[in-house]
Amino acid sequence: MSDATHEAGEPAVRTDIQRRDFLYIATGAMAATGTLAAVWPFIDQMNPTSSALAAGGPMSVDLSSVAPGQQIIVRWRSMPIFIVHRTPAMLATLREPSLLDMLRDPQSEETQQPPYARNWSRSEKPDYLVLVGICTHLGCIPTFSPVAGSLIASEPSGWLCHCHGSKYDLAGRVFKGVPAPFNLPVPPYHFTRPTTLMLGENPQGASFDLGSVQQL
Ligand code: FES
Repeated sequence: MSDATHEAGEPAVRTDIQRRDFLYIATGAMAATGTLAAVWPFIDQMNPTSSALAAGGPMSVDLSSVAPGQQIIVRWRSMPIFIVHRTPAMLATLREPSLLDMLRDPQSEETQQPPYARNWSRSEKPDYLVLVGICTHLGCIPTFSPVAGSLIASEPSGWLCHCHGSKYDLAGRVFKGVPAPFNLPVPPYHFTRPTTLMLGENPQGASFDLGSVQQL
């Protein structure tokens, strides 16, 4: 069984969902995906052992079939992990002054990411963004909105949390004026090959612990 799911089912998220409900959400989202399932690739190439999942051990994720502009969601330590293959156009937006002005922590000063992802792209490798997909307000799962204005007119692309309206940009940075107080966390990870990610393991020489973030 794959531990990946689709972004497309997430509108089914209820407004009163708390963190403990994640597994329910994921199950419901997969069941409700329907025709939208085709929009996002169902990644089935990673099959970590159940013991590895239980232990929260590192898991390898093959990103070779994730097209530019697409997001996949994998489950790690029972958390949804968003992985986005960002396009050059997406990356170009991340340093626009007009966007930075709208963000609460545009320089990632709060400890919500490893040191190797505390940079303009919030990633080890700009093309791929890796986030814990749990809203830092009350723990709902935000919906990917890769096209500006596709969820809310005039809003930049990123993620929208339907529960209480928090918004994040394409680096997982939270917007000002929303309930969520922090950027989406970045888990430990590194690339072992150009399109192979080792989730849950730091690059050599780094010692970041996800438990050290301000808020999951
Ligand atoms: S849980 Fe409240 S805005 Fe996301």
